[in-house]
Amino acid sequence: MATGLAVIGSGSAAPKASLNNDGLSKIVDTSDEWISTRTGIRSRYLASPQESLSQLSAIAAQNALSMAQVGATDIDLILLATSTPDDLFGSACQIQAEIGAKHAVAFDLTAACSGFVFGMITAAQFIRTGVYRNVLLIGADVLSRWVDWTDRRSCVLFGDGAGAVVLQANEIDHLLGFALHSDGCLHDCLNVQYQGESRPLTGGINVSQGTYQPISMNGKEVYRFAVNRVPEIVEKALFQAELTTDDIDWLLLHQANQRILDAVAKRLKVPAEKVISNIANYGNTSAATIPLALDATVRQGYIQPGDTIAASGFGAGLSWGAAIFQWQR
Ligand code: ACO
Repeated sequence: MATGLAVIGSGSAAPKASLNNDGLSKIVDTSDEWISTRTGIRSRYLASPQESLSQLSAIAAQNALSMAQVGATDIDLILLATSTPDDLFGSACQIQAEIGAKHAVAFDLTAACSGFVFGMITAAQFIRTGVYRNVLLIGADVLSRWVDWTDRRSCVLFGDGAGAVVLQANEIDHLLGFALHSDGCLHDCLNVQYQGESRPLTGGINVSQGTYQPISMNGKEVYRFAVNRVPEIVEKALFQAELTTDDIDWLLLHQANQRILDAVAKRLKVPAEKVISNIANYGNTSAATIPLALDATVRQGYIQPGDTIAASGFGAGLSWGAAIFQWQR
């Protein structure tokens, strides 16, 4: 029984409309100069009311299945990493129906910007125990739904998108190492908090009725957290893999801010040419950033079969994780 893991296909999708920094500066008091020098972001894709998270995810999934040459009916498990489902009960089942993966069990996984890495490690547990052979892992978010479009400190950072990979059982295990962490004490730094008002029902019983509040973020605190914790966890995962940063071909970080990418790479002593970045065109798409950037780099022909990738996701929770894997297609 093959109980190793191979990453054998990727796909991605973005909404039709994009908004560049000049366009944003018509909505809030900001400028292309401020946004691009502080974050590296120049433009982002934004989903229209007609474009759902499930639709974007289904397109990304189909692209990944087609690269992997795996049929939808051969998928055993669909994991959707998202914090912005179309349905609070979960959107993975809608994607399952959309792509016709009728034999797959499907569920959502919420770990904010760490969701894709947490999802990869979750998928690996099913594959390594021999339970499932083909897993479709999707990272997708439509954070534009939860951004306060009057708050210039946060609305300039985010965009929408979806990315997917196919993970398959393999004789050789190409997931070489991983590490995951959470710290709920830092939850206040970054959240989309539910807020409700008391509604009396009957007999002294009250329930809460409300909705989620827009993204709330302490930018400086998140920045500090990322540049300190991410190098640490990448080193930890590399140690488990018995590798050093010299052995990696690509550093694939959650695309939160170019300054974070640069600072983490500098601490890890990884040269700029090994650091994958597409933040200029997409902004921070939360759980989608890693598979989106992976897919673009694969399709541009940079990532080659056998290349070793150190991926790290980090964000709300706070949560952070790293996975060291080899690309196989
Ligand atoms: N345009 C113009 N001016 C702005 C903007 C803007 N969009 N946003 C803030 N400013 C102003 C502020 O009002 C402030 O002005 P003041 O000095 O007159 O009060 C000044 O710029 C500096 O503001 P800071 O918030 O101190 O800016 P900072 O240098 O910390 O940069 C940033 C902000 C880019 C958000 C930075 O803190 C950061 O990158 N943090 C990481 C957060 C992050 O990546 N979050 C993504 C989500 S989390 C995740 O995915 C991990």
